[in-house]
Amino acid sequence: KSSYRIASIPGDGIGPEVVSAAIQVVEKLAKTLGTFDINFDHIPWGTAHYKQTGSYVTGNALDTLRSYDASLFGAVGAPDVPDHISLWGLLLAIRGPLQLYANVRPVRTFPGTKCPLTTATEGIDWMLVRENSEGEYAGQGGRSHVGQQWEAATEVALFTRVGIERIMRFAFEMAQSRPRKLLTVVTKSNSMRNGMVLWDEVAASVAKDFPDVTWDKMLVDAMTVRMVAKPQSIDTIVGTNLHMDILSDLAAALAGSIGVAPSSNLDPTRKNPSLFEPVHGSAFDITGKGIANPVATFWSAAEMLIWLGEKDAAAKLMGCVERVCAAGILTPDLGGTSDTQGVVDAVCLEVEKLA
Ligand code: NAD
Ligand code: IPM
Ligand code: MN
Repeated sequence: KSSYRIASIPGDGIGPEVVSAAIQVVEKLAKTLGTFDINFDHIPWGTAHYKQTGSYVTGNALDTLRSYDASLFGAVGAPDVPDHISLWGLLLAIRGPLQLYANVRPVRTFPGTKCPLTTATEGIDWMLVRENSEGEYAGQGGRSHVGQQWEAATEVALFTRVGIERIMRFAFEMAQSRPRKLLTVVTKSNSMRNGMVLWDEVAASVAKDFPDVTWDKMLVDAMTVRMVAKPQSIDTIVGTNLHMDILSDLAAALAGSIGVAPSSNLDPTRKNPSLFEPVHGSAFDITGKGIANPVATFWSAAEMLIWLGEKDAAAKLMGCVERVCAAGILTPDLGGTSDTQGVVDAVCLEVEKLA
């Protein structure tokens, strides 16, 4: 039977709460099914580590992660450290450098939960594909004349043909694998006349290899309107690192809550191990209250199991999570009264029934 070694990086804020929740249910699943083994190694990277050592990570973080089959990440960011220090110290120091270029963010309305859109009474089921290695996140730019009146700052969005083409192909394949075979390519090629125009050109050329996929283009501002006004016209969406960062939070809220949205940071070439994490952040406002919704991290862990080859186990886990939601065992963000551990215990009980 297969055995997996996972780097667990709980990080900051509610990260440790939701990662511990997910480890409990995945360990219960592995024990109950008996079809695979999984071991989580605790990696204490995050703001506490930074305050002790001056660094968010220990040693060569990329080599450490390369010694695992995958990583399960919580969140990073603390109220008393500037966000650009914490994020570039940990998460953004991994995604780009490890070439985890495909960030896959499905959103779905869970049974027993409400979709706030009157235009989507049946709920939402979308697949967002986020370019995860370049754009505004390439780390290019700088500041000159700091503090002076003529200070200037640049944040350079870097786009490469190779980078766009690989995510575009990934997105077309993703759309092709879904029943509706519909893809919307989001850009901003009216005002952004270089990188965004290259995106449009690459989309049109890659589309020729996927005649069975119906695709269209949308400017990102208009896309926000379409997501609210015509949600049923959407299935798979692909866009830049920054555009999809924003659209994925919106999509999660439209589906029900940011607390259920998962993400997979994939290296589709499988040269490097992929990283799985909820879409949400450290959530300072609810840290320590024990009410963080663990579903986004459950779903991220299920996506990790699929990526590792444990498709059946992942489907069973998601079935358990759906039954718990349908039974109304929900955290406050979904309108429920349960706490995190209440949801964990209920999912573990469902998992036990799989025996
Ligand atoms: P956030 O996602 O942490 O929180 C936004 C809102 O959503 C808050 O009201 C929060 O309580 C709620 N929320 C988030 N996750 C929830 C959950 N699981 N259950 C219930 N409610 C939930 O976004 P923010 O406030 O902009 O960021 C806080 C910090 O996290 C910042 O430092 C930011 O940089 C960082 N951040 C990190 C990541 C990451 O590590 N992947 C992602 C986003 C933000
Ligand atoms: C996300 C987050 C990160 C991003 C931040 C925290 C750097 O918002 O994963 O959605 O912008 O990618
Ligand atoms: Mn985000």
